Amino acid sequence: MKLGVCYYPEHWPEAFWADDALRMAGLGIAWVRIGEFAWSRIEPEPGRFDWAWLDRAVETLAGAGLKVVMCTPTATPPKWLVDAHPDMLALDAEGRPRRFGSRRHYCFSSEAYRAECARITEAVAGRYGRHPAVGAWQTDNEFGCHDTTLSYSANAARGFQTWLAQRYQSVEALNRAWGAAFWSQEYRDFDEVEPPNLTVTEANPSHRLDYNRFASDEVARFNRLQVEILRRLSPGRDVTHNFMGFYTEFDHFAVGRDLDLASWDSYPLGFLEQFWFPEDEKLRYLRQGHPDVSAFHHDLYRGVGRGRWWVMEQQPGPVNWARYNPAPLPGMVRSWTWEAFAHGAEVVSYFRWRQAPFGQEQMHAGLNRPDNVLDQGGVEAGEVARELAGFGEPEPCRRAPVALVFSYEADWQFGVQPHARGFRWLQLAFEMYTALRRLGLDVDIVPPDADFTGYALVVAPSLPILDEATLDALEACGAVVLFGPRTGSRTREGHIPASLPPGPLQGRLPVRVTRVESLRPGAGPEVELAGRTFAGRLWREVLETDLPALATFAEGGAAWASRESWHYLATWPGTALLDLVIARVALEADLPVETLEEGVRLRRRGDVHFAFNFSPETRRTPAPVGARYVLGGRDLPPAGLAAWRIESP
Ligand code: GAL
Repeated sequence: MKLGVCYYPEHWPEAFWADDALRMAGLGIAWVRIGEFAWSRIEPEPGRFDWAWLDRAVETLAGAGLKVVMCTPTATPPKWLVDAHPDMLALDAEGRPRRFGSRRHYCFSSEAYRAECARITEAVAGRYGRHPAVGAWQTDNEFGCHDTTLSYSANAARGFQTWLAQRYQSVEALNRAWGAAFWSQEYRDFDEVEPPNLTVTEANPSHRLDYNRFASDEVARFNRLQVEILRRLSPGRDVTHNFMGFYTEFDHFAVGRDLDLASWDSYPLGFLEQFWFPEDEKLRYLRQGHPDVSAFHHDLYRGVGRGRWWVMEQQPGPVNWARYNPAPLPGMVRSWTWEAFAHGAEVVSYFRWRQAPFGQEQMHAGLNRPDNVLDQGGVEAGEVARELAGFGEPEPCRRAPVALVFSYEADWQFGVQPHARGFRWLQLAFEMYTALRRLGLDVDIVPPDADFTGYALVVAPSLPILDEATLDALEACGAVVLFGPRTGSRTREGHIPASLPPGPLQGRLPVRVTRVESLRPGAGPEVELAGRTFAGRLWREVLETDLPALATFAEGGAAWASRESWHYLATWPGTALLDLVIARVALEADLPVETLEEGVRLRRRGDVHFAFNFSPETRRTPAPVGARYVLGGRDLPPAGLAAWRIESP
């Protein structure tokens, strides 16, 4: 387990570099990520490369014993390049070009830009690929950031037509798949098809779903081009990409398959502020972050990286980009870092070494203040480095007892036809995850085509497009399985299945959804269980089934139906109901559940058991009496953590 930092030598006088490198090493940092936005300095004019400064920067870092994560600079094409290829810009859904002047101003489908990316990647990898200090590569920076996955340019339109021709082979097949007879949407040729934006009202849902799939494939293709060059010119180095939080517009499992490891950028306070959380949670966890947000992504990206993952950017202090940007509670930077290690991170790298006094992010903290004095985040990074030195290398993470099935396609399908305002697949999945975590369970987040062998419990928040192969794998693993609402509600083409939802699931769990209704907040549905009434949310399905109901709607009909160890929910459960459902399926799976104090979370890595306190009050560490602590102790202060060794099973 190592620490890292993001560094921008091009932002600072060269006279700073040696001192920066020495202080990084002194603080206990091992990895330094550089170069991801430096194209205009590497190639100030077309074909004229200036390597001298970057050579010296790499040598300075290497001289201090630091290892380098070198990046391809393709997130920030320079002005001359954009001027030479004006059609490389993406167009937004309103058809407006996304112009030069910030970053990510490119369209994934521009062949001209792809050729430029291949050229600069060859140049950088040719220069540094075999440098002994360069130990890893990052492709580009945060694919999709600033809403850049979907582009509606002429390049994208052409790419989409080619993609459709490959997928459907004949335009008749396309018309059938899209149900194009509806509203006279039939095409005579693939080259008549346009992107699904700027339509008078809602575009055809199958068209939109395919556009999501196409855009996702374009990101994977764009990344793969760079990965292939890096592997050829920089053998033996790990190649990664830094993914984002709560971002679903492309299939990260697909991109991850081309990488050696996944990495992601963790900004706990920014995420709490920017996403759907209720006001009381935003206030309660203001300076700590939501107890489950970082963990959720750690578990997701461990899956995306097939076991290997880093935090490439860790929030070190206030950020600049949220609506409000509070400072972390003292101790949180340390706690977030340890939390990542508890979930299996190989490296946690802070963004950034020093706060920049200029540019868009001048209000974003670094480990150091702009005047170069070590800031609170830097102090805590140093503390973690000292603790890590005495900690020893822990075992890798074991398989968790629970798998949560994460489907990017499910999120797109819900987005295409939410049918209820605010019915977000990602939020449903996250809430199911939080219920598992409130019971102290470790969770692996896996794709729908995962091998489920060894899991005791599998939670599928919803799989609207459900494959027989997934059902077979679930049956083969013998786990207790919970499916959320809207599972099996669409075919791969995006149609309602002929047998009605839940489609192929009916073969194993005989229920049929004969009607769905979506309800405004406050309008129920109410669910009755064990003599109590609980809130469901936004959604009610009418189930036709002979199975006994474990819970019923107040209006009548099953809200929760089960056969053997397979369960189906006909609503989005409110928190209290969800906690009960998850506790019940966990007990059925023989999992040891604990009721944790509010804000406390657990995680095991190898034989080490960790506890974290996200609440603003002191808590009691839920460790057995006589536990041998390796960090912390019985009291868990706010921002506190504890770790103790457990017996191997
Ligand atoms: C990330 C990005 C970084 C920086 C950071 C600020 O999204 O990768 O370049 O902008 O946010 O928090």
